[in-house]
Amino acid sequence: TGLITLDLGYKNTGATLSEITYLDGDQGELFYRGYPIEQIAEKSNFTEVMYLLLHGELPTEDQLDTFNGNIKKYNFVAEEMKKIIDAFPRSAHPMGVLSTLTSALTAFNPKSVNVQSKEEMDLAAELLIAKFAHLAAWTYRKTLGLPLNHGDNSLDYVENFYKMAFRLPNEEFVINPVVTAALNKLLILHADHEQNCSTSTVRMVGSAHTGLFASVSAGISALWGPLHGGANQAVIEMLELIEKDGGDVNKWVAKAKDKNDSFRLMGFGHRVYKNFDPRAKIIKKAADDLLAALGIEDKALDIAMQLEKVALEDEYFIERKLYPNVDFYSGIIYRALGIPTEMFTVMFALGRLPGWIAQWKEMRLKGDPIGRPRQVYQGAQKRDYIDISNR
Ligand code: CMC
Repeated sequence: TGLITLDLGYKNTGATLSEITYLDGDQGELFYRGYPIEQIAEKSNFTEVMYLLLHGELPTEDQLDTFNGNIKKYNFVAEEMKKIIDAFPRSAHPMGVLSTLTSALTAFNPKSVNVQSKEEMDLAAELLIAKFAHLAAWTYRKTLGLPLNHGDNSLDYVENFYKMAFRLPNEEFVINPVVTAALNKLLILHADHEQNCSTSTVRMVGSAHTGLFASVSAGISALWGPLHGGANQAVIEMLELIEKDGGDVNKWVAKAKDKNDSFRLMGFGHRVYKNFDPRAKIIKKAADDLLAALGIEDKALDIAMQLEKVALEDEYFIERKLYPNVDFYSGIIYRALGIPTEMFTVMFALGRLPGWIAQWKEMRLKGDPIGRPRQVYQGAQKRDYIDISNR
């Protein structure tokens, strides 16, 4: 079998050839299909970016119309899916509900499983994108015990999601363009990030030719964890805790450095970015602009900025090249938009969806082999079975 290279956490193992996203961790640069993230975040919108990631090129007006039309056409979710949601307790975390519902979609769209051609893959992708906005919105309505509503096809994808999730019964819905712009920007910044934990999970599951919906469901579970997408929720909880504790950021930075204390500065550090996370830079400015535009003052933003300042001047963080990542300021924007903490990671999932799908499609079209890492065995050597009465 040859020599096995051990690389815990795949820190230095390339698992695939990809043409979707390039990131340079030393320079702090990120590109989707060759376009710098700064330009995309400033000028594009989420549906266009979904198209770009899935198809490799920016769409023409006709192509974008067709894409948006298909997403509206396919957004029906089977009534039986509501019974699945009903079975959860209201206290269920929306990410767990979302993962279950996404996997359950397979049962209602069986043709999406055994796909071979690019056209079949694109159809499965559009079905999932269309229905996912409903599922994501419903996970939140479930926590409030509100009726599960359907979308408004006169709205675009992002506004439709926002209305489905957050409009209360009988409330008039007027969406502020500042809110739409901020949401689009956040979703775009989360849309893909090459072989991160959840994307690698989607590829790994999909490499067994498991269907798209089940593969993405596994990715949602991976994203849920606090070291990955769950960090955005953990950041706000941390900032609230620091505020409640009197706001002494130095004390918390010291805790994060203490190796006998499991506390980590959430929203800090990244496996690949060792200079800065370009997404964090864009989000920090967007958070500043949004709070100013909406006339909101948020103590959490002050604490976040103080924390950043103290940490960036601290030897521990400098030596280890730990900088704020995408999750450090995103929660402040979500909060300003009225999105509750337990929905933050669902927002990340909605943003990451096109990345997961594009990577799954690329893997299948390139015919990557089934994922199957090796190991270095450390367990007991050969020994004989002992009958239970003699143990
Ligand atoms: N606070 C304090 N110390 C840290 C932190 C932190 N946030 N992050 C890393 N370190 C230390 C770590 O203890 C280790 O120190 P030492 O060399 O003395 O043992 C060193 O820095 C290297 O850390 P690592 O855990 O080996 O690095 P990794 O590449 O395995 O982990 C990470 C990357 C993002 C999981 C980690 O930095 C972390 O846990 N950060 C906090 C959680 C977070 O913000 N996650 C979001 C990541 S970005 C978006 C996403 O993926 O969803």
